[in-house]
Amino acid sequence: MALARARDVAFVRFRVPDLEVMRSFLEDFGMVVAGQDENALFMRGHGTAPFLHVSERGEAGFIGFGIWIDDEGEFEQLARSEGLSPEQSIEPGGGRILRLTDPDGYQVEVLCGQRAVDPLPVPEHVPWNQGSTYPRTAFPRRVGRRPSHVLRLGHVVVAVTSFATSEAWYKDRFGFLTSDEIRPTPQAPAMGAFMRCDRGEDTCDHHTLFLVERPGGPGFIHSAFEVADLDDLMAGHEHLKATGRDHFWGVGRHLLGSQVFDYWKDPWGHEIEHWTDGDQLPAVHEAGAGSIEDLLGVQWGMKMPGGLG
Ligand SMILES: [Fe+2]
Repeated sequence: MALARARDVAFVRFRVPDLEVMRSFLEDFGMVVAGQDENALFMRGHGTAPFLHVSERGEAGFIGFGIWIDDEGEFEQLARSEGLSPEQSIEPGGGRILRLTDPDGYQVEVLCGQRAVDPLPVPEHVPWNQGSTYPRTAFPRRVGRRPSHVLRLGHVVVAVTSFATSEAWYKDRFGFLTSDEIRPTPQAPAMGAFMRCDRGEDTCDHHTLFLVERPGGPGFIHSAFEVADLDDLMAGHEHLKATGRDHFWGVGRHLLGSQVFDYWKDPWGHEIEHWTDGDQLPAVHEAGAGSIEDLLGVQWGMKMPGGLG
């Protein structure tokens, strides 16, 4: 039984030498400034989270990520087990916070009671005319030339030194459930897993956290943000291309998780993903297993450049 259950990942935190350069990139990516001072930049999406992406001034690198816990009793149980006293967060949305360090030294900030903000407008969802069903009649579809509308942080992907150690560390504290394990051969031990939150009968994304052992050793792999829909993702793709941003992989449809994806790199080379139309699973869904080919393969679209690294 886990000490607590994560509701979702809350944000990612980086250090970068130039906050203005990061701000300009993230605005092109589809985020909105939530707060900024000399030393830190907080960016939000169009959903209800007060921020999704934090940049602190410094040498470029990944610091860690945030996790929301809704249940106060579980939050306090986790604090006691870690021997920590919760602090009051002074960042947008406030709430109480615990700062943990995972087995590879990434900072995991656990938030409880953060205040939501009002969502920002997103394009109205107009159903598609497809098959023999034509719900859009006498009404032209106009997408516009503009950035995507980032709604929320969907998942974080990190390479770890030992998958077994890190898997146990995260599952014991946050109740993550395995959606699909990755095995190089069906008999080999798992080298990684797509994990989701335990929301009981309520569904959640196929993966919230993906941990993997890779040849290149531990390190940040990517953070992934949900956008409004397919047109919104493609409009964002065109916008990022037009503004000379660094494209990495996409557009395509993943196999494990099924998302339509599009990967870019921030000005310091951190991978960052737009996605839409991912699988939703309840807690009872049985874990599956996939190969490395399943992990990196696509159902359609651009093949992954370079592999796992
Ligand atoms: Fe992803």
